[in-house]
Amino acid sequence: MNENISVMYSEEQVAERIRQMAEQISRDYAGKKLHLICILKGSVFFTCELAKRLTVPVTIDFMSVSSYGNGTTGGVVRLVKDLDEPIEGRHVLIIEDIIDSGRTLSYLMQNMHNRRPASLKLCTLLDKPDRRVTEVHVDYTGFEIPDEFVVGYGLDYAQKYRNLPYIGVIRP
Ligand code: IMP
Ligand code: MG
Repeated sequence: MNENISVMYSEEQVAERIRQMAEQISRDYAGKKLHLICILKGSVFFTCELAKRLTVPVTIDFMSVSSYGNGTTGGVVRLVKDLDEPIEGRHVLIIEDIIDSGRTLSYLMQNMHNRRPASLKLCTLLDKPDRRVTEVHVDYTGFEIPDEFVVGYGLDYAQKYRNLPYIGVIRP
C-alpha cells in the first residue's frame, strides 16, 4: 500500500466525544423511544458506539444510499437499500459518518420527512462545513473538520481502512 495516513482523532478522543454526544442525546430524548437510522456502510461503527451509550430505549434500522456526480456537476442520490420498517409517528435520529457537500443528507432528510416521523433529527460524527453545496441542518456533530479526506472509524478510501479504530487523514 502506498497511502500515508496520519491520526486526526485518536481512538480515545473519538470514544470520549461519542460519550458526550450520547449523554446529550439521552437528555434530549428523555422519556421517549428513539429510532436510530444507520446509513450504511460508513456509519456502522459510530452507530454501534453511540447506541451502546444511550440510556433511552433504542431501536435501529439501516439504509443504504449511493451518490453519483461530483462537486460541480450536481450529484444524484439513489436509494440502494430502504428501511425495513415504517417510521411514521416515531422519533427518528439519522446517524451519518460524514457530511461533505450535503447532497446525500438533504435528499435523505426530505425522503424521511415525507414518511411523517413524530420528529426527525440528524447526527453526524464528522462535518466538513467548508465543502457544503446544499444546505443541511445538523442537530448533533462530533467534530467539524477542515477539507481533508479522512478514513477510519467506518470511513473508507476505495473501500479500505474502514476498520481503523481512529480517524486519520489520508494523503495518497
Ligand atoms: P455528501 O455530503 O453528499 O457530499 O456525501 C457524503 C458522503 O461522501 C459520505 O457519506 C461519505 O461516504 C463520502 N465522503 C465524503 N467525505 C469523505 C471523507 O473525507 N472520507 C471518506 N468518505 C467521505
Ligand atoms: Mg456515508
